[in-house]
Amino acid sequence: MKLRAVKGMNDILPEESQRFQRIESIFRNTVETYGFQELRTPLVEDLTLFQKSTGETSEVVQKQMFLLARERESLALRPEGTPSAARVYIGQKMQAREPVTKWFYIGPMFRAEQPQRGRYRQFHQAGCELYGDPGPHCDAEMLDMLVQMGRAMGLSDVKVQLNTLGGAEARGHYRGKLREFFEPIKASLSEHAQERLGDNPLRILDSKDPRDQAACEGAPELFDSLTDDDKQHWDGLLAALERLGTPYEIDPRLVRGLDYYTRTCFEIVASSGEIGSQGAILGGGRYDGLLESLGGPAIPAIGFAMGLERILLALGEQEFQRPALCFVAPLGPEAQLEALELAQALRAAGVRVELDSRGNSMKSMLRRANTMGARLALILGKDEVATQVVQVKDLVLHTQTDVPRADLPSTVLGIFTAASAEEKSA
Ligand code: HAM
Repeated sequence: MKLRAVKGMNDILPEESQRFQRIESIFRNTVETYGFQELRTPLVEDLTLFQKSTGETSEVVQKQMFLLARERESLALRPEGTPSAARVYIGQKMQAREPVTKWFYIGPMFRAEQPQRGRYRQFHQAGCELYGDPGPHCDAEMLDMLVQMGRAMGLSDVKVQLNTLGGAEARGHYRGKLREFFEPIKASLSEHAQERLGDNPLRILDSKDPRDQAACEGAPELFDSLTDDDKQHWDGLLAALERLGTPYEIDPRLVRGLDYYTRTCFEIVASSGEIGSQGAILGGGRYDGLLESLGGPAIPAIGFAMGLERILLALGEQEFQRPALCFVAPLGPEAQLEALELAQALRAAGVRVELDSRGNSMKSMLRRANTMGARLALILGKDEVATQVVQVKDLVLHTQTDVPRADLPSTVLGIFTAASAEEKSA
């Protein structure tokens, strides 16, 4: 048996986990200030949920589902979070409880793709879904939140790529126009695009195949099929973005790969880091018809999801500071027992503590403290236990002082606060 993780599914070791945690905590803090609350749903759903929402014509449902076949059950690992949230919204009759519902989620998603940099079979999304507000200001507020969040994460030059897909009426009309346009030149399209011509000709517009890109030259623009209501929504969105100073770029070819979108759709593409301009770090849009199409109420919705791995790639190898570490090094059995209690008191005061209880020599303990990057080493032996003091060794300044046991938490916190203020001003 080979002890290897499944292709395209990664172990995330502690150092990398810290980078994930940092992004997740900025995400949480940001979306909570906008009123989103966390929803946790199972990783597994009925396959039909994804077929009916993510969409029969989407690549995700057609080719990338991880299926779990059981007797009389057809289950699948979730490839995205929007369908599960919609299921919960409908099941809980949220529209009867509150006019506007705002949820966020963070977790693994599964798509059987060909793995490459930034594209995995298990990856992590942090996303939001907002139900009950049809207006364009709600879209603008969400887009602005994304730009603010990207900046807080350290992404340089975050810009929203934006488009409108119109409502159902406009898209029906536009589909017809696209079929008329592509039908006579069908033979010049890729095999994939030829298939799409039948079920979802919009997808041809975002094909990466050079044959399709050439064929798209001069294709009709969706904008010309918009209804007056669609146009009013779009104009309202742009005006609000201008007012907020949110950077955006209109991309009339942006159609997104999932079937449920209506009107506003958007992506954020990283312009820096190891991911290059390969993939979107975030995608989303409005889906005003999805809940109804699943048998729920006619409630409009909008949402997005960001790929955590892609954000980390876009950020590159930035160093993230962990909170300062205090290393406790006891010598001898009495000191070891005392050190347990000391570590407990320090942690209760909010200090990150590593207690070395192995009973090793002082030299070996201090070597470990240095390797772990500890700022302070607290040394205590038999004498210190008797006199209730601790030797506090500053491993950066190379100083050593005796501190009464009772003063320790405040002394350690004082040193850490001063050190972090110095780092910030440096
Ligand atoms: P999506 O565009 O399919 O949208 O995925 C959102 C983000 O997930 C992508 O921009 C990308 O960063 C990340 N992602 C997707 N597939 C992979 C992969 N194989 N490996 C690594 N990262 C990946 C959705 O999933 C929608 N549910 C977003 C949404 C929410 N729309 C409305 N509400």
